[in-house]
Amino acid sequence: MDKWNRLLARSVALVAFTAMLAPAAAAAQDTIKVKSPDGRNEIGVATHEGRLYYLLNRDGRPILMPSMLGMEFRGSRPVRDSLRITGQSRSTFDQTWTQPWGEVARVRDHHNELRISVVETTAPSRKFDVVFRVFNDGVGFRYEFPDQPSLKDFVISEELTEFSLADNAKSWWIPSNRPRLDRSEFLYSSSPASVMDSVQTPITMQTTDGKTFIVLHEANLVDYARMNIKGPYMDNRTLHVALAPLAGGDKVRGRTPFVTPWRTLQLADRAIDLSPSVLGLNLNPPSVLTDVSWIKPMKYVGIWWGMHINTMTWNSGPKHGATTANTKRYIDFAAANGFGGVLVEGWNVGWDGDWIKNANAFSFTQPYPDYDLPGLAAYAKSKGVHLIAHNETSGGVVNYERQMDSAFALYHRLGIDAIKSGYVTDTTPEGHSHHSQFMVRHYRKVIETAAKNKIMMDVHEPIHDTGERRTYPNMMSREGARGQEYNAWSGEGGNPPEHETILFFTRMLAGPMDFTPGVFDILIERGTGRPRRPEESRIRTTLAKQLALYIVLYSPLQMAADLPENYEHQPAFQFIRDVAVDWDESHVLDGRIGDYVIVARKAKNSPEWFLGAITDEEGRTFDVPLSFLAKGQSYVAEVYADGPGANWKTNPLPVAISKQTVTAGSKLHIVLAPGGGQAVRIRPAK
Ligand code: NOJ
Ligand code: CA
Repeated sequence: MDKWNRLLARSVALVAFTAMLAPAAAAAQDTIKVKSPDGRNEIGVATHEGRLYYLLNRDGRPILMPSMLGMEFRGSRPVRDSLRITGQSRSTFDQTWTQPWGEVARVRDHHNELRISVVETTAPSRKFDVVFRVFNDGVGFRYEFPDQPSLKDFVISEELTEFSLADNAKSWWIPSNRPRLDRSEFLYSSSPASVMDSVQTPITMQTTDGKTFIVLHEANLVDYARMNIKGPYMDNRTLHVALAPLAGGDKVRGRTPFVTPWRTLQLADRAIDLSPSVLGLNLNPPSVLTDVSWIKPMKYVGIWWGMHINTMTWNSGPKHGATTANTKRYIDFAAANGFGGVLVEGWNVGWDGDWIKNANAFSFTQPYPDYDLPGLAAYAKSKGVHLIAHNETSGGVVNYERQMDSAFALYHRLGIDAIKSGYVTDTTPEGHSHHSQFMVRHYRKVIETAAKNKIMMDVHEPIHDTGERRTYPNMMSREGARGQEYNAWSGEGGNPPEHETILFFTRMLAGPMDFTPGVFDILIERGTGRPRRPEESRIRTTLAKQLALYIVLYSPLQMAADLPENYEHQPAFQFIRDVAVDWDESHVLDGRIGDYVIVARKAKNSPEWFLGAITDEEGRTFDVPLSFLAKGQSYVAEVYADGPGANWKTNPLPVAISKQTVTAGSKLHIVLAPGGGQAVRIRPAK
């Protein structure tokens, strides 16, 4: 069929199916529906001319028009064209569970489930179920292929799931599958959905009437390819799944019985209701770790920023950062200032030469001669500090897996209970996409091996977060977006002032991010040139905004990224020492995607609250009610605000520190400089 015929056939199908869903239509019994517990979100499922469609309404208004479901297996006809619904079953679930750490301590999982059984009416008569879970905050659905004679070992060449948007919603996205740029470290763009080409999830969308926010993502990605999204073609509104490929182009290899990850659509009336996002967590299995006492959110410092601003090197030589003496200095600094961890990069051999190409050269057990691995582990322990071992793989996943068991066991013996891993590469040496099933399996294997050895994970260049932390709470933080590091390099232009105000409503909805805030030397005056160009390499925020990021950008492992010497004689450093990293509650008080956001969080098992406000390049003023505070209690608010005349561009450093007494009845007056921010600690008055 040519393009226009297909388009025509498609719109006939849409009209017919829409008629089926109308209450008065004669064929209404053909449409199977399920609503969220509050009745606002509704999924409808029906077949039309042998094809299976679902749609999504909110308050009776369409969010997704009838959108096709199906799967394409290599070497056979797609499971798509002769489908019949053979059965359905329903259930309701309502349970509240507790997170060992997180943006909120308790999470309610309340949903209605609809399971549809489907069979092909023509040979080879393959069958599958589609399971929908409808929550008040969105929906998830997945395919389940049971063991069956005509589907045993299989190769998926594409998943045929569609998301047929009812509205050409404004969308915030980063690109996917750019040739040789198979990564997530891009600046966000915004456009009507119809303009999106190949994009990554989570994609955040706002309908043109402004009334609904939609976040498209996935949950519980275990043994499958990561889902990217191909933008609309033909009818201009339909998004398609594009799974990340293995070398050679296959998408997923498996064997029945088999379940796919959940495809999720989070829904909210206001942007500020999107966070904290728990839809994906509710679609992951509960923790398999019975003892989680060793899993501890913490702040950390590290031998790290120096490499990015060229005062130290990863490789051996006169500027080697990971020396015994330097590491001791960092451990002492951490202990003196109440930090839980010290990250050490460049401690292990493999960095010499062009490390980005060193996939097979890295050892994960052998230190450089000037790094006393056991001695430093013992020294850290004696000071009550956790060493965070760095494992850069340069994409040499096979090399890493070969060493993983012995390396992790060694760390465990030495009392090293945290790893920051890294995958600076696009495709793997074998030619698999960074986001392929091969890599998904690898990342999962790392989490499991780490759990066995009681090791917490912070993964850079990861697969996007699909809620793994619920099942494996040792999977704590990850990068997977443009972090602070981009501000250190030339050529990239760094992160613009609006960057973090977009991250909050996009990337951060997937899960915690190791953004590495807290650079005080905003102009990187201690950096030593190299490829840095002074006019480009700097932080595009005020100093106060660096503080606010500790509250706004959630991570259970939160770095104080700057050199220790840059925190000396800085009164504002007190905020980083004080700020919590684990929370009972989180509330977004105000915000607009790409403009500003104000977040309040209550510290875990503590009466203290912290508030962070950030803005883009525009200065802004707010009066924020503190009604979240306990009634009848008086508090001291310690305010770290942009100082007089501050702005990110020409005067980023002034911070005004002040105290005021507040109660639940107070309004906090917040003044943000252009590119600025404000951080507030609110503690009960004695
Ligand atoms: C990229 C990571 O994001 C960064 O934190 C790390 O220092 C380098 N890779 C080297 O592994
Ligand atoms: Ca990175």
